[in-house]
Amino acid sequence: MRTLAGQFNLTVSPRTYQPCCKFRNRFRSVGHLKININKSIDLDELRKRNQGVKKGGFWTPHDCPPRSRVIIIVPHRNRWSHLIQWLAHYHPILQRQKLEYRIVVTEQVQRNLFNKGRLYNAAFLECERAFDFDCVIFHDVDMLLENDHNMYWCYNMTRPRHLSPAVDKFRYQLPYHILVGGVLAMTRHMFKRVNGFSNQFWGWGGEDDDMWGRLVAVNTTVDRPHPTIGRYTMIKHRTRKGERNFMLTYRLVLLATSGSRWSRDGLNDVRDYCKLTQVAHEPLFTHFVFDVGNQPRQKPRNT
Ligand code: BGC
Repeated sequence: MRTLAGQFNLTVSPRTYQPCCKFRNRFRSVGHLKININKSIDLDELRKRNQGVKKGGFWTPHDCPPRSRVIIIVPHRNRWSHLIQWLAHYHPILQRQKLEYRIVVTEQVQRNLFNKGRLYNAAFLECERAFDFDCVIFHDVDMLLENDHNMYWCYNMTRPRHLSPAVDKFRYQLPYHILVGGVLAMTRHMFKRVNGFSNQFWGWGGEDDDMWGRLVAVNTTVDRPHPTIGRYTMIKHRTRKGERNFMLTYRLVLLATSGSRWSRDGLNDVRDYCKLTQVAHEPLFTHFVFDVGNQPRQKPRNT
């Protein structure tokens, strides 16, 4: 059996070494945050400001055992400027929340349309092989949290938490009831239970709506923070020409079949499509690069 000291590298007295969640005052959350979209963040300066972060973007509190060990997966393609703002914004928040966390950036190579579902699934499987964690957060690169009382952990084992119900782009209103896009937290176990995201959605959107169908198929839905807490600013950007309406009809067909397709389209077949081409343990994040394969010319498989 591992001892508490062995497990958490104990450097403080055992009497005060209680789980972080027992000490509300240790959270040091500040509530409402001023969003400063600063286009000229210097990466060296950012590294200096985050010297406690270990290579690969890993951090753990040293004065109390964390309640949750969290992996945050951030997919992108050609969005380095957003990613730097994302890192500058979230490292301090996650440390104030006293989480053990690792930031995992999953990048798509090539000029094909974006396939966020494949990037999430493939990165999750790599994390399973390499890291120890119990909670995973799927996070858009352009979403900046406005209130750090919105906790980045999984405290309900069976109900995922949609952390971003109030986004400035939608005037801080949930646009529709089944939306789980933006920022979604769930246990590692739950993500495997729903077989991850679909691999079949190309271009902008859809894979998150399909996730709702998967959750319903395993008899769950989501919790959400109060809209005054689950508030985000979305960094503005243009969707690439062709991304938004790619195979719109098939996307609708796919969505209509979520409930029957989920068990054979997801984590269990993503390796048929995705190849890991690069891994790097950068100072502020773990970096995976994937070749996600080619977008179909015709009707996608598995419909
Ligand atoms: C898309 C989702 C997206 C939502 C909010 C929907 O039309 O299918 O993927 O999250 O809009 O932008």
